[in-house]
Amino acid sequence: MAEVKPTMHAVWFERYGGGPAGLKHVNIPVPVPKKDEVLIKIEAASINPYDWKVQEGQLKPFLPRKFPQIPANDVAGEVVKVGPAVKKFKPGNKVIAILNCLVGGGFAEFAVAKECQTVARPPEVPAPEGAGLIIAGLTALQAVTQVAGVKLDGSGPLKNILVTNASGGVGHHAVQLLKLGNTHVTATCGARNIDFVKSLGADEVLDYRTPEGAALRSPSGKKYDYVIHGAHEFPWSVFEPNLSARGRVIELTAGLKTAMIYAFQKLTFSKKLLVPMVLSPKGENLEILVKLVKEGKLKTVIDSKYPLSKVEDAWAKSIGGRATGKIIVEP
Ligand SMILES: NC(=O)c1ccc[n+]([C@@H]2O[C@H](COP(=O)([O-])OP(=O)(O)OC[C@H]3O[C@@H](n4cnc5c(N)ncnc54)[C@H](OP(=O)(O)O)[C@@H]3O)[C@@H](O)[C@H]2O)c1
Repeated sequence: MAEVKPTMHAVWFERYGGGPAGLKHVNIPVPVPKKDEVLIKIEAASINPYDWKVQEGQLKPFLPRKFPQIPANDVAGEVVKVGPAVKKFKPGNKVIAILNCLVGGGFAEFAVAKECQTVARPPEVPAPEGAGLIIAGLTALQAVTQVAGVKLDGSGPLKNILVTNASGGVGHHAVQLLKLGNTHVTATCGARNIDFVKSLGADEVLDYRTPEGAALRSPSGKKYDYVIHGAHEFPWSVFEPNLSARGRVIELTAGLKTAMIYAFQKLTFSKKLLVPMVLSPKGENLEILVKLVKEGKLKTVIDSKYPLSKVEDAWAKSIGGRATGKIIVEP
C-alpha cells in the first residue's frame, strides 16, 4: 500500500499583487528535512516588510524564484525531525530559525531550516518574541556593530547616531543595541510612540510629522556620525546638513535613487556617504541576540498576534506600516 504523506495547513501566494486577498490557504505535504536540515513544528512566525514587497513585485525579476511562495522567514518552534548530518539538535529542542530567504516557508504548521541557521531557544525567549527577533534584530545588529562599528560592551569611542523608524521592527532593536554601546541616540517615530522609544533608551526623540522631525534635526544640535535609516527614501539634502564631517547614512530601504547617489559620492570622493545595506543573515549573529535577550539586555516588542487562519489581517497590518514592534502569526 502506498505511504500516506502527512499534510499541513500553509498559506501562499501564486502571483504578483493582490495584497491580503492574494494569500491562499492550502493543505500541502509536510516538508522533509535534507541531511543538514531540521524540521520545525512552528509555534510563531514574524512578518517583515520584505515578505509583502516580494508579493508586490518590488524584487522582480529576482524574487520569488518561483510561484507559489509561502511567505515569512522568521520562525520559532520545536524540532520534530532532523536530517542524518545534523549534530546540534534533536526532536524536542526549542529553537528559532532563519528560513531560506529566497524560498520562505513560515506561514505554515511546519518548515525546514538549515542546522547552521537554527539556534537553541532558552525559556527566557518565548516563541513570539523569538520569531520577532530574527530578521529585524539581525538587521539592527549588522547596522550597529558591523557598519557603524559600535561595540556592544560600550568600549568604543562615543558616537552620535540617529535611528529613523525607531518604533518599527528594526528600529526598536537598533535603539536598544546602540544604548549597550557608547552612543548618544536620537530617534524618529510618530507622536504616539515617543514614550515607547524613550523607554528603549533613546536620548532624544523626534516626531517625524513635525518640521524638526521631517528635517531630522537633533534638538541639542548634535551632528550624526551614523544614521540607521529604515524610513522611506529621503532626499540627500535632508541628511547632509545633519551629518558630522565623515557622517554615514546606512540605508535599509535602498532603491535606484540611493544607488545613484552612492555611485556619485564614490566617484567624487565625498566624505559624507550614503551606504546601502542588505542583511546577510547568519546563525552565529542570532546566537548573540538570543544571549542578549537571555541576559535581559534586549527585548523584542510584540505589536500584535494573529492566528494563521487570519493571516490576511496580519499581512494588511504590516503593509499599512503602522506596527509598533513586530507582527506575529501563530499556526
Ligand atoms: N536592507 C535590509 O537588509 C533590510 C532588512 C530589514 C528591513 N529592511 C527595511 O527596513 C524598513 C523598516 O523595516 P521594519 O520592519 O522596521 O518596518 P516596520 O516595523 O513596518 O515599521 C513600522 C514603523 O515605522 C514608523 N514610521 C513610518 N514612517 C516613518 C517615518 N517617516 N519616520 C519615522 N518612523 C516612521 C511607523 O510609525 P507610525 O505608525 O507612528 O507611523 C511604525 O511604527 C523596511 O522598508 C524594510 O523593508 C531592510
